[in-house]
Amino acid sequence: MNSPRILVLHGPNLNLLGTREPEVYGHITLPDIDQGLATLGRELGLDVQVFQSNHEGALIDRLHAARADGTCFVIINPAAYTHTSVALRDALAAIDKPFVEVHLSNVYRRESFRHQSYFSSLAEAVISGCGALGYSLALRYAADKLSAKA
Ligand code: DQA
Repeated sequence: MNSPRILVLHGPNLNLLGTREPEVYGHITLPDIDQGLATLGRELGLDVQVFQSNHEGALIDRLHAARADGTCFVIINPAAYTHTSVALRDALAAIDKPFVEVHLSNVYRRESFRHQSYFSSLAEAVISGCGALGYSLALRYAADKLSAKA
């Protein structure tokens, strides 16, 4: 039997993790995060697919593709699009897959414009402020939900 497929989407500027504002985001790089998720995914029996883009349309296209590629759960850090993108929110609503919204930093301890998310009211859960661990927690949550459903 095929492992359940989980799509992990990273929004703009997250490709710069490691050097980008390390006092906010730490020193971990995106390849480190993705590798950790692939390893944890294998342990949990999940097929983890990752995608990063700095372009709103590319993220939307990847979500549309997830409708037909066997994806059953999405983990998304929309980054700055969290606070601006109705289009990306609509894409998540359209594909109708459960998702967890992840932020490395605690957005509620930061500037007030970061307190508004277009995603949280659609998300199954929101994890903010746990650093890279937030992605692992989201993956464990997905595994738990999917095994409860099986
Ligand atoms: C972020 C928080 C956003 O406000 C910011 O624009 C990001 C990263 C986080 O992971 O903490 O790019 O989503």
